Amino acid sequence: MKRFELIQAIFNNQLPREPRQVTATAFAPINVALCKYWGKRNNELNLPVTSSLSIAVPTKGTTTTLLWAPEQTQDNIIFNGKEMDPKSSFVQGITQFLDLFRPQHKWYLQATIKMNIALAAGFASSSCGFAALSLALNNLFTWNLEPYKLSILARLGSGSAARSLWTGFVEWHRGTRDDGMDSHASPLAEDWPALCIGLLSVCETEKPISSRKAMQHTVNTSHLYPYWPEKVAQDLVKIKYAIDKRDFSLLGKLAEQNALAMHATMLSSQPPICYFLSDTIAAIRRIWTLRKAGLELYFTQDAGPNLKLLFLKKDITAIQKFFPSVEIVSVFSGCI
Ligand code: PMV
Repeated sequence: MKRFELIQAIFNNQLPREPRQVTATAFAPINVALCKYWGKRNNELNLPVTSSLSIAVPTKGTTTTLLWAPEQTQDNIIFNGKEMDPKSSFVQGITQFLDLFRPQHKWYLQATIKMNIALAAGFASSSCGFAALSLALNNLFTWNLEPYKLSILARLGSGSAARSLWTGFVEWHRGTRDDGMDSHASPLAEDWPALCIGLLSVCETEKPISSRKAMQHTVNTSHLYPYWPEKVAQDLVKIKYAIDKRDFSLLGKLAEQNALAMHATMLSSQPPICYFLSDTIAAIRRIWTLRKAGLELYFTQDAGPNLKLLFLKKDITAIQKFFPSVEIVSVFSGCI
Protein backbone atom coordinates (compact mmCIF):
# COMPACT_ATOMS: atom_id res chain seq x y z
CA MET A 1 0.00 0.00 0.00
CA LYS A 2 1.20 3.51 -0.83
CA ARG A 3 1.10 6.51 1.48
CA PHE A 4 -1.64 8.16 -0.52
CA GLU A 5 -3.87 5.08 -0.39
CA LEU A 6 -3.48 5.05 3.37
CA ILE A 7 -4.52 8.68 3.53
CA GLN A 8 -7.54 7.86 1.35
CA ALA A 9 -8.46 5.09 3.75
CA ILE A 10 -8.23 7.44 6.72
CA PHE A 11 -10.42 10.00 5.03
CA ASN A 12 -12.71 7.44 3.32
CA ASN A 13 -11.82 8.87 -0.09
CA GLN A 14 -13.08 12.30 0.99
CA LEU A 15 -9.86 14.27 1.15
CA PRO A 16 -10.65 17.81 2.26
CA ARG A 17 -9.90 20.61 -0.19
CA GLU A 18 -10.30 23.87 1.67
CA PRO A 19 -10.12 24.67 5.35
CA ARG A 20 -13.15 26.00 7.17
CA GLN A 21 -11.03 28.50 9.03
CA VAL A 22 -8.01 30.61 8.12
CA THR A 23 -5.64 29.74 10.92
CA ALA A 24 -5.10 27.02 13.53
CA THR A 25 -2.56 26.33 16.25
CA ALA A 26 -1.55 23.15 18.05
CA PHE A 27 1.09 21.98 20.53
CA ALA A 28 2.68 18.54 20.83
CA PRO A 29 5.21 17.40 23.44
CA ILE A 30 8.48 15.59 22.92
CA ASN A 31 8.48 11.97 24.02
CA VAL A 32 11.34 10.04 25.57
CA ALA A 33 11.37 6.37 24.56
CA LEU A 34 11.93 3.98 27.47
CA CYS A 35 11.66 1.03 25.08
CA LYS A 36 12.97 2.17 21.72
CA TYR A 37 11.68 2.04 18.19
CA TRP A 38 14.64 1.10 16.00
CA GLY A 39 14.00 -0.39 12.57
CA LYS A 40 11.18 -0.35 10.04
CA ARG A 41 9.42 -3.18 8.29
CA ASN A 42 8.04 -0.74 5.72
CA ASN A 43 9.99 2.42 4.89
CA GLU A 44 7.29 4.23 2.97
CA LEU A 45 4.66 3.87 5.69
CA ASN A 46 7.10 4.08 8.64
CA LEU A 47 5.90 0.74 9.98
CA PRO A 48 8.10 -0.42 12.86
CA VAL A 49 9.67 -3.82 13.38
CA THR A 50 8.65 -3.67 17.06
CA SER A 51 6.27 -1.89 19.38
CA SER A 52 7.77 0.81 21.65
CA LEU A 53 6.93 2.79 24.77
CA SER A 54 7.66 6.37 25.75
CA ILE A 55 6.93 9.06 28.27
CA ALA A 56 5.93 12.57 27.23
CA VAL A 57 7.55 15.76 28.48
CA PRO A 58 4.61 18.19 28.33
CA THR A 59 6.65 21.38 28.84
CA LYS A 60 8.97 20.67 25.91
CA GLY A 61 7.83 20.45 22.34
CA THR A 62 6.51 22.26 19.31
CA THR A 63 3.77 24.82 18.81
CA THR A 64 2.72 25.11 15.18
CA THR A 65 0.46 27.78 13.76
CA LEU A 66 -0.86 27.25 10.24
CA LEU A 67 -2.16 30.06 8.08
CA TRP A 68 -4.14 29.33 4.92
CA ALA A 69 -2.30 31.20 2.17
CA PRO A 70 -4.01 30.65 -1.22
CA GLU A 71 -2.13 33.56 -2.80
CA GLN A 72 1.25 31.92 -2.16
CA THR A 73 3.00 29.76 -4.75
CA GLN A 74 4.82 27.65 -2.18
CA ASP A 75 4.75 26.86 1.53
CA ASN A 76 6.36 29.40 3.77
CA ILE A 77 7.98 27.94 6.90
CA ILE A 78 9.12 30.11 9.79
CA PHE A 79 11.10 28.23 12.40
CA ASN A 80 11.79 29.91 15.75
CA GLY A 81 11.36 33.34 14.12
CA LYS A 82 13.52 32.62 11.08
CA GLU A 83 12.19 32.10 7.56
CA MET A 84 13.58 28.77 6.32
CA ASP A 85 15.14 28.08 2.93
CA PRO A 86 12.51 26.23 0.82
CA LYS A 87 15.28 23.94 -0.46
CA SER A 88 16.41 22.89 3.04
CA SER A 89 15.74 19.30 4.08
CA PHE A 90 13.70 20.65 7.01
CA VAL A 91 11.22 22.46 4.71
CA GLN A 92 11.24 19.61 2.16
CA GLY A 93 10.19 17.16 4.88
CA ILE A 94 7.25 19.37 5.85
CA THR A 95 6.25 20.05 2.24
CA GLN A 96 6.32 16.36 1.37
CA PHE A 97 4.11 15.67 4.38
CA LEU A 98 1.63 18.39 3.32
CA ASP A 99 1.63 16.96 -0.23
CA LEU A 100 -0.06 13.85 1.17
CA PHE A 101 -3.19 15.95 1.67
CA ARG A 102 -3.16 17.92 -1.60
CA PRO A 103 -2.49 15.43 -4.41
CA GLN A 104 -4.56 17.06 -7.15
CA HIS A 105 -5.57 20.43 -5.85
CA LYS A 106 -2.56 22.51 -4.79
CA TRP A 107 -2.79 24.88 -1.88
CA TYR A 108 -0.12 26.39 0.31
CA LEU A 109 0.32 27.28 3.91
CA GLN A 110 2.40 29.47 6.09
CA ALA A 111 3.60 27.43 9.06
CA THR A 112 5.06 29.21 12.07
CA ILE A 113 6.88 26.63 14.15
CA LYS A 114 8.19 27.29 17.63
CA MET A 115 10.27 24.60 19.25
CA ASN A 116 11.79 24.85 22.72
CA ILE A 117 14.19 21.95 22.19
CA ALA A 118 17.32 21.64 20.01
CA LEU A 119 16.64 20.48 16.45
CA ALA A 120 17.96 17.10 15.24
CA ALA A 121 20.15 16.55 18.30
CA GLY A 122 18.43 13.43 19.67
CA PHE A 123 15.86 15.33 21.71
CA ALA A 124 12.86 14.03 19.71
CA SER A 125 12.37 17.24 17.71
CA SER A 126 10.86 15.40 14.74
CA SER A 127 8.38 13.54 16.95
CA CYS A 128 6.83 16.69 18.41
CA GLY A 129 7.19 18.52 15.08
CA PHE A 130 5.10 16.11 13.00
CA ALA A 131 2.62 15.51 15.83
CA ALA A 132 2.01 19.26 16.19
CA LEU A 133 1.68 19.61 12.41
CA SER A 134 -0.90 16.79 12.27
CA LEU A 135 -2.88 18.33 15.13
CA ALA A 136 -2.75 21.80 13.57
CA LEU A 137 -3.96 20.41 10.20
CA ASN A 138 -6.76 18.59 12.01
CA ASN A 139 -7.78 21.92 13.57
CA LEU A 140 -7.38 23.96 10.39
CA PHE A 141 -9.51 21.62 8.27
CA THR A 142 -11.78 20.66 11.23
CA TRP A 143 -11.23 17.02 10.31
CA ASN A 144 -12.16 15.87 13.83
CA LEU A 145 -10.07 12.74 13.34
CA GLU A 146 -9.99 10.19 16.12
CA PRO A 147 -6.69 10.21 18.04
CA TYR A 148 -5.57 6.87 16.61
CA LYS A 149 -5.97 8.21 13.07
CA LEU A 150 -3.97 11.32 13.97
CA SER A 151 -1.31 9.01 15.39
CA ILE A 152 -1.16 7.21 12.02
CA LEU A 153 -0.86 10.53 10.16
CA ALA A 154 1.91 11.77 12.47
CA ARG A 155 3.67 8.41 11.99
CA LEU A 156 3.95 9.11 8.26
CA GLY A 157 6.03 12.20 9.07
CA SER A 158 8.30 10.51 11.60
CA GLY A 159 7.72 7.15 13.27
CA SER A 160 8.16 8.34 16.84
CA ALA A 161 5.68 11.19 16.19
CA ALA A 162 2.95 8.56 16.50
CA ARG A 163 3.60 8.67 20.29
CA SER A 164 3.65 12.48 20.70
CA LEU A 165 -0.10 13.06 20.77
CA TRP A 166 -0.60 12.29 24.45
CA THR A 167 0.96 13.07 27.79
CA GLY A 168 2.13 10.42 30.26
CA PHE A 169 3.19 6.92 29.18
CA VAL A 170 2.36 6.04 25.59
CA GLU A 171 2.72 2.75 23.74
CA TRP A 172 3.06 2.57 19.97
CA HIS A 173 1.60 -0.77 18.86
CA ARG A 174 3.59 -2.31 16.05
CA GLY A 175 0.49 -3.66 14.30
CA THR A 176 0.46 -6.54 11.86
CA ARG A 177 -1.44 -5.19 8.85
CA ASP A 178 0.43 -4.30 5.67
CA ASP A 179 -1.59 -1.10 5.28
CA GLY A 180 -0.46 0.16 8.71
CA MET A 181 -3.96 0.99 9.91
CA ASP A 182 -3.30 -0.86 13.17
CA SER A 183 0.14 0.71 13.76
CA HIS A 184 -0.61 3.64 16.05
CA ALA A 185 -0.07 4.67 19.64
CA SER A 186 -2.35 4.79 22.66
CA PRO A 187 -1.85 6.19 26.18
CA LEU A 188 -1.36 4.05 29.29
CA ALA A 189 -3.68 5.02 32.14
CA GLU A 190 -0.80 5.41 34.60
CA ASP A 191 0.28 8.40 36.66
CA TRP A 192 3.65 8.54 38.44
CA PRO A 193 4.19 12.01 39.94
CA ALA A 194 7.45 11.02 41.64
CA LEU A 195 9.11 10.14 38.33
CA CYS A 196 11.44 12.82 36.96
CA ILE A 197 13.43 13.37 33.79
CA GLY A 198 16.51 15.53 33.38
CA LEU A 199 17.74 16.65 29.96
CA LEU A 200 21.52 16.48 29.98
CA SER A 201 22.82 18.32 26.97
CA VAL A 202 26.26 17.32 25.72
CA CYS A 203 26.18 18.86 22.25
CA GLU A 204 23.26 20.55 20.51
CA THR A 205 24.59 20.67 16.96
CA GLU A 206 22.79 18.66 14.32
CA LYS A 207 23.60 14.95 14.41
CA PRO A 208 25.92 13.62 11.71
CA ILE A 209 23.43 11.01 10.46
CA SER A 210 19.64 11.17 10.71
CA SER A 211 17.81 8.53 12.72
CA ARG A 212 15.96 7.55 9.54
CA LYS A 213 19.23 6.70 7.74
CA ALA A 214 20.91 5.23 10.82
CA MET A 215 17.97 2.94 11.47
CA GLN A 216 17.91 1.56 7.95
CA HIS A 217 21.67 1.12 7.88
CA THR A 218 21.50 -0.82 11.15
CA VAL A 219 18.71 -3.10 9.93
CA ASN A 220 20.66 -3.79 6.74
CA THR A 221 24.13 -4.38 8.17
CA SER A 222 24.21 -5.07 11.92
CA HIS A 223 24.86 -8.69 12.89
CA LEU A 224 23.25 -7.92 16.27
CA TYR A 225 20.02 -6.55 14.81
CA PRO A 226 18.34 -10.01 14.50
CA TYR A 227 18.36 -10.16 18.33
CA TRP A 228 16.71 -6.74 18.72
CA PRO A 229 13.01 -7.63 18.13
CA GLU A 230 13.10 -10.38 20.77
CA LYS A 231 14.89 -8.07 23.24
CA VAL A 232 12.22 -5.39 22.74
CA ALA A 233 9.37 -7.88 23.13
CA GLN A 234 10.79 -8.93 26.51
CA ASP A 235 11.65 -5.39 27.64
CA LEU A 236 8.20 -4.09 26.80
CA VAL A 237 6.48 -6.62 29.05
CA LYS A 238 8.93 -5.92 31.90
CA ILE A 239 8.78 -2.14 31.50
CA LYS A 240 4.99 -2.18 31.66
CA TYR A 241 5.22 -4.36 34.77
CA ALA A 242 7.70 -1.91 36.37
CA ILE A 243 5.35 1.01 35.61
CA ASP A 244 2.36 -0.86 36.99
CA LYS A 245 4.26 -1.70 40.21
CA ARG A 246 5.93 1.76 40.40
CA ASP A 247 9.22 -0.13 40.63
CA PHE A 248 11.65 2.66 39.73
CA SER A 249 14.86 0.60 40.00
CA LEU A 250 13.48 -1.96 37.60
CA LEU A 251 12.18 0.69 35.18
CA GLY A 252 15.46 2.61 35.20
CA LYS A 253 17.55 -0.51 34.71
CA LEU A 254 15.38 -1.76 31.83
CA ALA A 255 15.23 1.62 30.05
CA GLU A 256 19.00 2.06 30.30
CA GLN A 257 19.70 -1.49 29.06
CA ASN A 258 17.27 -1.05 26.20
CA ALA A 259 18.98 2.16 25.05
CA LEU A 260 22.42 0.56 25.28
CA ALA A 261 21.23 -2.48 23.32
CA MET A 262 19.93 -0.15 20.59
CA HIS A 263 23.30 1.62 20.43
CA ALA A 264 25.04 -1.78 20.36
CA THR A 265 23.15 -2.62 17.15
CA MET A 266 24.43 0.66 15.66
CA LEU A 267 28.01 0.07 16.79
CA SER A 268 27.91 -3.37 15.19
CA SER A 269 26.69 -2.10 11.83
CA GLN A 270 29.07 -1.78 8.86
CA PRO A 271 30.44 0.89 8.79
CA PRO A 272 29.58 1.53 12.45
CA ILE A 273 27.36 4.37 13.65
CA CYS A 274 28.37 5.98 16.91
CA TYR A 275 26.29 8.78 18.46
CA PHE A 276 28.47 8.87 21.61
CA LEU A 277 30.81 11.80 22.10
CA SER A 278 33.54 11.68 24.73
CA ASP A 279 31.37 13.87 26.99
CA THR A 280 28.51 11.39 26.59
CA ILE A 281 30.77 8.57 27.80
CA ALA A 282 32.06 10.71 30.67
CA ALA A 283 28.49 11.45 31.80
CA ILE A 284 27.51 7.78 31.54
CA ARG A 285 30.51 6.76 33.67
CA ARG A 286 29.53 9.41 36.22
CA ILE A 287 25.98 8.03 36.35
CA TRP A 288 27.30 4.51 36.93
CA THR A 289 29.69 5.70 39.65
CA LEU A 290 26.93 7.63 41.43
CA ARG A 291 24.59 4.66 41.19
CA LYS A 292 27.22 2.39 42.69
CA ALA A 293 27.44 4.88 45.56
CA GLY A 294 23.69 4.55 46.17
CA LEU A 295 22.03 7.25 44.04
CA GLU A 296 19.14 5.81 42.07
CA LEU A 297 19.94 7.36 38.72
CA TYR A 298 19.59 5.90 35.23
CA PHE A 299 19.76 7.27 31.71
CA THR A 300 18.43 6.75 28.25
CA GLN A 301 19.88 8.01 24.96
CA ASP A 302 18.37 8.38 21.50
CA ALA A 303 19.92 9.08 18.12
CA GLY A 304 22.25 11.81 19.32
CA PRO A 305 24.93 12.42 21.96
CA ASN A 306 22.61 13.84 24.62
CA LEU A 307 21.27 11.96 27.62
CA LYS A 308 17.96 11.91 29.44
CA LEU A 309 18.38 11.18 33.14
CA LEU A 310 15.74 9.17 34.96
CA PHE A 311 15.37 9.63 38.73
CA LEU A 312 12.85 10.17 41.49
CA LYS A 313 11.65 13.50 42.86
CA LYS A 314 13.34 12.83 46.24
CA ASP A 315 16.74 12.98 44.50
CA ILE A 316 16.32 16.29 42.63
CA THR A 317 18.78 18.18 44.87
CA ALA A 318 21.46 15.53 44.48
CA ILE A 319 20.99 15.40 40.70
CA GLN A 320 21.30 19.19 40.45
CA LYS A 321 24.46 19.06 42.57
CA PHE A 322 26.18 16.37 40.48
CA PHE A 323 24.93 17.66 37.10
CA PRO A 324 24.62 21.48 37.46
CA SER A 325 23.73 21.92 33.78
CA VAL A 326 20.86 19.43 33.80
CA GLU A 327 17.42 20.74 32.87
CA ILE A 328 14.87 18.99 35.05
CA VAL A 329 11.54 18.80 33.25
CA SER A 330 8.10 18.09 34.51
CA VAL A 331 6.71 14.73 33.44
CA PHE A 332 3.62 14.32 35.58
CA SER A 333 2.23 17.22 37.55
CA GLY A 334 3.94 17.07 40.91
CA CYS A 335 7.44 16.31 39.67
CA ILE A 336 8.66 19.91 39.69
O1 PMV B 1 11.01 8.83 14.61
P1 PMV B 1 12.44 8.82 14.19
O2 PMV B 1 12.58 8.38 12.76
O3 PMV B 1 13.11 10.14 14.47
O4 PMV B 1 13.20 7.72 15.07
C1 PMV B 1 13.36 7.86 16.46
C2 PMV B 1 14.22 6.80 17.00
C3 PMV B 1 14.67 6.94 18.45
O5 PMV B 1 14.42 8.24 18.93
C4 PMV B 1 16.17 6.68 18.54
C5 PMV B 1 13.98 5.92 19.34
C6 PMV B 1 12.54 6.20 19.70
O6 PMV B 1 11.82 5.24 19.97
O7 PMV B 1 12.15 7.37 19.79
